[in-house]
Amino acid sequence: MTPSCHPASSHGTAQQHPRTSAASEDWWRSAVVYQVYIRSFADGNGDGIGDIAGLQDRLPYLVELGVDALWLNPWYPSPMADGGYDVSDYRAIDPMFGTLEEAESMMKEAHGLGLKVFLDIVPNHTSDQHHWFREALAAGPGSTARDRYVFRAGRGSGGSLPPNNWRSGFGGPAWVRVTEPDGTPGQWYLHLFAPEQPDLNWDNAEVRREFEAVLRFWFDMGVDGIRIDVAHGLVKEEGLPDLGHSDIERIGMAADGGHPHWDREGVHAIFRGWRAIANSYDEPRVFVAEAWMGAPDRLARYVRPDELHTAFNFDYLTAPWRADRLREAIDNNLKAFGAVGAPTTWVLSNHDVARHVSRYGRPQPDEPVRALSDFLKDKPFDLELGTRRARAAALLTLALPGGAYIYQGEELGLWEIEDLPEELLQDPTWKRSGGTDRGRDGCRVPIPWSGDCPPFGYSPPAVTTEPWLPQPTEWKKLTVQAQSGDEKSVLELYRKALHLRRAHPALGDGTMTWDSTAQEEVLSFTREPGFRCVVNLSEHQIALPDHTEVILSSAPVHGRRLQSDTAIWLTR
Ligand code: NOJ
Ligand code: CA
Repeated sequence: MTPSCHPASSHGTAQQHPRTSAASEDWWRSAVVYQVYIRSFADGNGDGIGDIAGLQDRLPYLVELGVDALWLNPWYPSPMADGGYDVSDYRAIDPMFGTLEEAESMMKEAHGLGLKVFLDIVPNHTSDQHHWFREALAAGPGSTARDRYVFRAGRGSGGSLPPNNWRSGFGGPAWVRVTEPDGTPGQWYLHLFAPEQPDLNWDNAEVRREFEAVLRFWFDMGVDGIRIDVAHGLVKEEGLPDLGHSDIERIGMAADGGHPHWDREGVHAIFRGWRAIANSYDEPRVFVAEAWMGAPDRLARYVRPDELHTAFNFDYLTAPWRADRLREAIDNNLKAFGAVGAPTTWVLSNHDVARHVSRYGRPQPDEPVRALSDFLKDKPFDLELGTRRARAAALLTLALPGGAYIYQGEELGLWEIEDLPEELLQDPTWKRSGGTDRGRDGCRVPIPWSGDCPPFGYSPPAVTTEPWLPQPTEWKKLTVQAQSGDEKSVLELYRKALHLRRAHPALGDGTMTWDSTAQEEVLSFTREPGFRCVVNLSEHQIALPDHTEVILSSAPVHGRRLQSDTAIWLTR
């Protein structure tokens, strides 16, 4: 520790006040949900890993920020082969994060503060340490236990080749050959993700019943909503035919339901059943689908009135910082979702993609971007530009009709950490790509709360255990403490925008109208009553349209001119 490096001070200054805005039955149509990547949010017990105690302690921060709900990434017991998306028990909490009692207490407190709580359910696959999978390995071919998963004989002589050509999302084949209980080389099992994440067989009635029971378990405890992991992957085509096109092997989806393992028609019946369960609660519970889809009208089928409530709009997330691409994503999704009566859910970042400060802070391609390796490789990063655009993007996002998600740390303007030491990388992508793709750890670095040096108040004072991923020293300027009260900070911009959004009758769910006179590279739209949002994505300053008042802008506005990469909210 350098002499100028002061330990973190207490953070507990946020005011707690119950709110009522989320009270109506369709609160989810406009809700702003804050994504808590629990492992990196706040460490309550000082072991360097975020936990429930740390989260509970920081709930007032989320209230002050002005969000309606929080979504927690998986907190279940897990060997952590894929950051907790390898679940070994769906009805418990990993001791690393805390206990069920702590979970209940945290939720109770969140509810008391007016915050809803979403969990994450992982129905496509379990951990290979789940007792079902262990039973399947022990029971052998043809058993009831194996039928819960996707086991098949191999092809080729002696079954030594995988049953088909499907690929794992993390690289390499999607099949692993097991050794049978008698010691002979045996069947293969399917894993669309890591080998430690065997795919479940959703044609099996017991699998379906089990997940319905798991939903009820958490809903009974008071959980308000569930994010569904890989919602588009549960059902596989009968006979498991080979993939036809190498270009749809990894994440690309066939837009017409013709892909053998993504977006099959059969998933919809599952979700209709889940909706009935959610509706059976006195305060109906809600769902958000994680479904990477090729076309918005395919995604909209997941949010038809008797299916899921919302689905992340990844077209918007992956759009480059270009007016035409953003407008296309906005229009196509509003149209497709509007046709089924569902709100759109805007999202800029999450735990699977490079932070948007780092995506936007580079020369922008035409193509969609998730990782920095997508079309941004070797492009120089300009932090100031990325931050400026991220600020404008925040105002655009929060002005659009529907709900929004904020990924922890985006409200602080955090950037992607691109130089984490290789030996610390945990994302299975790193190993499975043979060390060519660094994966997603760079967006999962622990949050800086206070103080001048790591761990920046993420762990309790005087703790010497290092955070599970190292924070850069430059983040001392971005701590919650450093930004609080600084009118120019990203945090204060988010706070203002969220509070204004909640109070403004034109914002949240509803409609928008593009301004037909806006020039190219400018996004300008109105919402009723009396609201206009203008975002200047051009390289030049532009004249502001007529207005009576400036509500908020992402950068200072001088003399009725809007600078490049700036957004503004106006009263008409
Ligand atoms: C999507 C999750 O967001 C991601 O983190 C995970 O690796 C895959 N699904 C597999 O569960
Ligand atoms: Ca901890």
